[in-house]
Amino acid sequence: MHGKIVKIFMIFFILVLCFQTGCQKHTTQLQKNIVPEIKLGVAIYKRDDTFIAMLISNLEEEIKKGQQQKNIKITMNTVDAKGSQTVQNDQIDKLIEQGCDVLCVNLVDRTVASAVIDKAKAANIPVIFFNREPVAEDLQRWDKVYYVGAEASKSGYLQGQIVVEAYQENPHTIDKNGDGKVQYVVLEGEQGHQDALLRTEYAVKTITDAGIQMEKLAGDTANWHRSQAATKMTQWLQVYGDKIELVLSNNDDMAIGAIDAYEGASKPLPAVVGIDATTLAIEALKEGKLLGTVKNDAQKQAELIFMLSYQLVTNTYLQEDIDITKQKYFFTEYTMIQPKDVLKKSE
Ligand code: GAL
Ligand code: CA
Repeated sequence: MHGKIVKIFMIFFILVLCFQTGCQKHTTQLQKNIVPEIKLGVAIYKRDDTFIAMLISNLEEEIKKGQQQKNIKITMNTVDAKGSQTVQNDQIDKLIEQGCDVLCVNLVDRTVASAVIDKAKAANIPVIFFNREPVAEDLQRWDKVYYVGAEASKSGYLQGQIVVEAYQENPHTIDKNGDGKVQYVVLEGEQGHQDALLRTEYAVKTITDAGIQMEKLAGDTANWHRSQAATKMTQWLQVYGDKIELVLSNNDDMAIGAIDAYEGASKPLPAVVGIDATTLAIEALKEGKLLGTVKNDAQKQAELIFMLSYQLVTNTYLQEDIDITKQKYFFTEYTMIQPKDVLKKSE
């Protein structure tokens, strides 16, 4: 009996020892930097973009929380390029000149990342690109370059799935003329944006893969913008009228623009699907104007940007699974939002 107790005690002792050396290894890996302040330089492509505005206000909240929790001063200097890469280049030069610890960049033109990386590298300031994904080779230019975003194809898949589920439940709610095909139009985001092409491609593919026939009537870019989408949709309504059975929109703002056009023309709404889960889109879902949306997790993306920045500057983890030494890409999950989800929540 006594021997048994000794054995148990010894095993416990060994376990404690292993645990301690494990921890020591971990802390010695990170040489903690003592910093008086953390300065984030944040360059955004356009503040007048609902999703980006959401992301930025979430990031501001994260910083406030971080300051309280860590008892350290954290500042954020946000500059808005208003859709011009030339303006953004100057703004980035200034942020570097003024001295910031991390550059968080939402590029206007995602193909010019290399120039930004080279400047940041020369000043030894790490870069976190977000929302507008640079090409893979650019991200390999320097080890202190990261990307925070979400995988476009997945949002397209989920958007398609919303249509598939509604169709399978009752085909006539979508195929109004009952010809066995879904006549549709596409409102596309900015040309050249990773989220535009892939969202359209995967949404259509998911629906056709489910055995539903699709017939495209029209498609064009409305640059993520509500009023541009309303203008486009008004034109299509004049040409195709109630032939349109489905509006696939690359984001919620353009989906709301499409709804505006129908309401302006006093026409009954077809099935409309968006992506982002903005406040207005959730309202439209509750009112039965939108068939569904896909949540683009602005909150989680803001958290990631903050956690990465904190880790890059202080060399300490805020969360263990955010490890900048192991990866460059940090993607958040998309989630499908249908009327049943929002109605359930508000009950
Ligand atoms: C997308 C988002 C759009 C728009 C765009 C800007 O991820 O869904 O609404 O904000 O980014 O780059
Ligand atoms: Ca039809």
